[in-house]
Amino acid sequence: MQNDEIMDPRIIDGRGIADKIEDQVKREVEKLKEKGIQPTIATLLVGEHPPSKLYVKLKEWACKRAGIRSEVHKYSEDVALEEIINLIDELNNRVEINGILVELPLPEHIDEHEVMSAIKPSKDVDGFHPLNMGSMLIGKERFVPCTSEGIIRALEEYHIEVLGKNVVVVGHSNVVGKPTSIMLLNRNATVETCHVYTQNLKEHTLRADILIVATGVKGLITKDMVKKGVIIFDVGVTWVGEKVYGDVDFDSVIEKVKLISPVPGGVGPMTIAILMEHTIEAAKLQHNLR
Ligand code: GUN
Repeated sequence: MQNDEIMDPRIIDGRGIADKIEDQVKREVEKLKEKGIQPTIATLLVGEHPPSKLYVKLKEWACKRAGIRSEVHKYSEDVALEEIINLIDELNNRVEINGILVELPLPEHIDEHEVMSAIKPSKDVDGFHPLNMGSMLIGKERFVPCTSEGIIRALEEYHIEVLGKNVVVVGHSNVVGKPTSIMLLNRNATVETCHVYTQNLKEHTLRADILIVATGVKGLITKDMVKKGVIIFDVGVTWVGEKVYGDVDFDSVIEKVKLISPVPGGVGPMTIAILMEHTIEAAKLQHNLR
């Protein structure tokens, strides 16, 4: 990103918000270490999916910055489900492991639901265990998906009230679209969730006071699809060579927005910072410090 873009008040400073969260995490880590607790996260990475390898690296670096110990368990693409479940069982039982994260997506032959369900809910720092997802659905948020929490945190940081606002979420994945819709509903926004089968998407997106887009379709949202003064969170990630693009046609949409999260430098860093925070929360939970 250019420096002049960083200075544009319409552009959400995801890196800045993440740095603030990470600074707080660092202080919490120091306090835990004084009590003899070394916060630790275990990550499972299956296969050679280049973006997944990058995300795991970014998370490892964030752990290093924060003073969190990280161990990464790598498996080849053809690993058996049983082997993954066995490792999760072992990590569930190891007292020094506070958080367990399985990088997604998993290969086709691995049942994601079985894997998520195997993680001990109190170590589920990604918030994908059915118990944590279900709690969120009834308004009792425990560990919630990190991207969704990052978006909520950014809205708070910019003093954006969501109660009564029209929120349109485009994308209904379990990782982003569904949990973000539910968390905003929990905060009394009027939420519409659109997806690949939604007819006339523009009719919906034009109603949005807050638009959240998580489809992985590069440039899906164009200027004619949003109203003036909209707040946009672009969760899209499409790699073209070495460059990454969001789901929003940033250059055309910018003139209409009140706020927009850029790609890169928007939602991504916030997601990782929240993961660090969850790891600390998990460590405290397991040591009865909450
Ligand atoms: N892959 C892309 N985003 C995420 C995420 O938030 N968590 C996990 N585990 N995998 C992902």
